[in-house]
Formats: sequence, structure tokens, C-alpha cells
Amino acid sequence: MSSPKTQRFLLLFGLSLLMTSLVFGWVRDLILGKTQNKNRTEITFAEDVAPILYDHCVRCHHKGGIGPFPLTTYEEVLRKKRTIRKAIANGIMPPWPADPEYTHFVGENYLTQEEKNKIFKWIDGDQPKGNMSQMPELPEFNPVSMLGKPDKTIYMDSIFVPGKNRDLFLSVKVPFEIDRDTFIRAIEFVTGEHNIVHHLNGHLLNYDFNRKKNVFAGRHVVNVETDGSTYDTEMLEMQLTHDDGDFRNVQKFESAINYLPGVEGTMYPEGIGGFPVSRKSTIFVQSLHYAPTQEDMWDRSHFNIFYSKSPPGRPTQELMLGTNGLSAISPPLVIPPDTIITCTTKYRLNWDASVLTINPHMHLLGSKFLAYGVTLQGDTIPLIRINRWDFRWQYFYTFKNPVHLPKGTLIVAEATFDNTSENPNNPYDPPQEIKERYENEGGSMRTTDEMFQFIITYLPYKKGDENISLGQSTKPLK
Ligand code: HEC
Repeated sequence: MSSPKTQRFLLLFGLSLLMTSLVFGWVRDLILGKTQNKNRTEITFAEDVAPILYDHCVRCHHKGGIGPFPLTTYEEVLRKKRTIRKAIANGIMPPWPADPEYTHFVGENYLTQEEKNKIFKWIDGDQPKGNMSQMPELPEFNPVSMLGKPDKTIYMDSIFVPGKNRDLFLSVKVPFEIDRDTFIRAIEFVTGEHNIVHHLNGHLLNYDFNRKKNVFAGRHVVNVETDGSTYDTEMLEMQLTHDDGDFRNVQKFESAINYLPGVEGTMYPEGIGGFPVSRKSTIFVQSLHYAPTQEDMWDRSHFNIFYSKSPPGRPTQELMLGTNGLSAISPPLVIPPDTIITCTTKYRLNWDASVLTINPHMHLLGSKFLAYGVTLQGDTIPLIRINRWDFRWQYFYTFKNPVHLPKGTLIVAEATFDNTSENPNNPYDPPQEIKERYENEGGSMRTTDEMFQFIITYLPYKKGDENISLGQSTKPLK
């Protein structure tokens, strides 16, 4: 505790620091010619367009980013102005399928009408450069991690993806050894060839030190789309069990790591989520899906591991509705050609839940998605609305604060599928009947088959959960 006198001193000291920095800032800006011209009417690159692009686009559209071209300089933007206009007008960019008029999430990224109008006006006009000293500062990009400095990085084997223009589905074992048993706060997946790595679902396997001689031994990669008996044999060759052949006593954390295009790692506040990890462990990637490519490629993706000082205080739990989940789909997911259908799946919660993250999942025929809860009192709790489904951008949406679903709430998800030739993503021309297919625990779901899943990550509810800020999950760790 500090005395009132020191407090007053600190306050005055702080104030004078603030004044000094304000004056210095002003002088520096004066020297750099950075004083704002408040009376400008012209929309310029430096003063209007760049700040919007720097806030909403460049984290993907920089050299080496996942966007196909950089949008960091005047020349780069000018070159792409027509496609930029179209992508913004069509709502394709920035990629954020969730409707911000329905619910809000951490890291949400969309342009207001005012921001769009500014960009359109600039593109439709003479695209003046403006006062380049007013350019915003380019954010720093970390090619290694979106979450911060990892405690450990684990590389997957290099994987050959043949240029056969076909989807490739693999199961991959990624073993590692560390100095001591500890706790993991988050695992982040970083793609090597980000244009072809489509999705990944992985579990964490912890071994008993004395019952597993060599975690690295055994086969590392298995093609999932072989016949059942070959798959079973090859899975045995992976040696995922303890040395005595027992798998039941291996500690397993399902879905410890998920990746879909555009998904940044989720980091909950300290104390929420996370797993114990032992000295000998393996990330077992149940399904790693590579999109079709015309040319042969080698991918070497990696995992970043962030440790936690303490054991997971409140481990997260998962609820899966729809395909292979807890609730049936009605009508069944069989989509005749030339039709648009809406399917529903419902699940009644028998406990109080604090929902942290949700993930709607469909494939190419998906066109709309809606999910909400209905309490026993008949109140509606909105969860997510996607008016224009985009197969490429299937985020795990984390709420800014946990959403309380009281015991007895009916969770309802509605998915619309468009199997007409109007749907530009329809894999068949003319359209064919498409249905749900789920084999090898979903390992071999091809994108041309359909799926309707709604995955909810939650905690058992505790009073006050609504006030927890999950927002820090996007801030890098120190
Ligand atoms: C989360 C990463 C990300 C963000 C943020 C992002 N983009 Fe993109 N953008 C991509 C990727 C990846 C592609 C390649 C196409 C695809 O995969 O959908 C792309 C494609 C594009 C295209 C080409 C579209 C076409 O039809 O060929 C334009 C133009 C574009 N982005 C502009 C923007 C603008 C402008 C913003 C900000 C307002 C933005 N992007 C924000 C990742 C992003």
C-alpha cells in the first residue's frame, strides 16, 4: 500500500510525463509534417484508405502472409483496385462470414458501410496518394506464430502431396519429448504450404514414461482413404499404444488442436482450457486434409506449443451436434439435385453451460447457417448467423464473453444447402444427389460429400462467467 502522499506524487509525476510526451509528440509531428489537415475533403490513400486496409487486410495480405498478394503499399493497392472493389462489394473480403448484426466475436473483422464507401469513392475517383507522411505504421508480422513466442516448436514430417488434382486425407503421428511433465496452455498449427493445407483435427496423447520406450518409433503417416483393413494394419504400424500394446491407459485429449483456413489459434485466459502434457507425448493428427493441387508439392507444417504455469483450472468440454454428433439431422442430410433444403438439428442441455467458442461446419453446398438457444422460459439466445456461407472460411468463433445457456436450453442449429447450378461452389455440373458421408471417424470426409456439424466448446457454468473477457485470446503473449 502506498501513502496518499506518494499516490499524489505518482499522479503528478504521471501527468507531467504525459504532458511531456504530448508536447514531444506534437513537436515530432510538426517536424515530420504530420499535423492533421482537418479540413480535407478529398479521400486519399495515405489518410483514408491505408488505415482501413492496415486494420482489416494486411495481416493476411503482406509478403509471406496467407493472402495471395500484399496490399501494403500504394502501388500494390493501385494494381489490385478493381478486384479489391469487387471483393469488398460482394462481401468476400475481409473474410468474416458471421453476421455482426446478430452476434459479436473476438477478432471479428468486417468493414462498416462508411469504410466501404471511402474505399469505393477512392477507387472510383482519381486514387490520390495524399500526404504520405500520414501513412499508418505497418504492423509487425510474426511468420512463426500469431499467438506470440512459443515455448516449443514441433515439426511434422515433410509430406508429399502429388499434383493429381485430388483431395488427400492423411492421419499423421507427430511425436515429441520434453524435459519434464508440465501443462500446455495452447497448441497452434502453422501451415507450410498454406494454399493446400485445408484442415486438421488432432488429439494429444500422453504416455507413461516407463511404458513407452521410444515415442518416435513406428509409422508416421497413413493414407486414410485406403480400404478398411489396410487402414487398420497401417494404424497398428503407427504404434500409438504403450509398449505392452495397451491404448486405454494412454491419456488422450480429443481435439486438442483444430485448424481450418483462416483460423488463428485460440488462447483462452489463463486458467481456462489447456491440458497436462507428459515427457513423452504425441500429437496424433486424426485427419489432415490437403486440397487438390495441379503440381507436386512438399508441405512441412509445424505446431507451436505454449506452456502454462499451472494445471488447467477449468478444462473445456465439447458438444457436437449433427453429423456423427449427439443430435439427429432432420430431414436427413440427403440433398437431391436442383434443390435447396434446410436441415435442423436440436439438442437440449441438461446442465448450465458457459459457451466459449462455436464452430459451424458444412461443405461446398452450404449456403446459410443459423444457431440459437431457446430457454425453458421461451427466451431466444442468439449464437450465430451466417447469411452467405463461405466454404473457405470456417472459423472457430470465440465469444467476447462466455454466453450462459441455462439448464434446459434447447440448442437449435439450421443449415441451408444449395444443390442447384446457381451455387458456384457446386462440385457437380449438372448437380447430383449429395449426402452425408462419415467414415473412419470422419477422417475421410471428402469436400464433395456433405456435412452438417455444430461444435460447441464450453465450461460448466459458474456465476460471473458472463464477465470474463475472452478477448485477450487474440493478443500475443509476452
Ligand atoms: C484472414 C486473412 C485475410 C484477410 C483479413 C483479408 N484477406 Fe483478402 N484474401 C485472403 C485469401 C487467403 C485470399 C485468396 C482467396 C481465398 O482463399 O478466398 C484473398 C483474396 C483476396 C482478393 C482476391 C479475390 C478474388 O476474387 O480473386 C482480394 C481483392 C482481397 N483478398 C482483398 C482483401 C481486402 C481489401 C481485405 C481487407 C478489407 C482483405 N482481402 C482481407 C485472405 C485475407
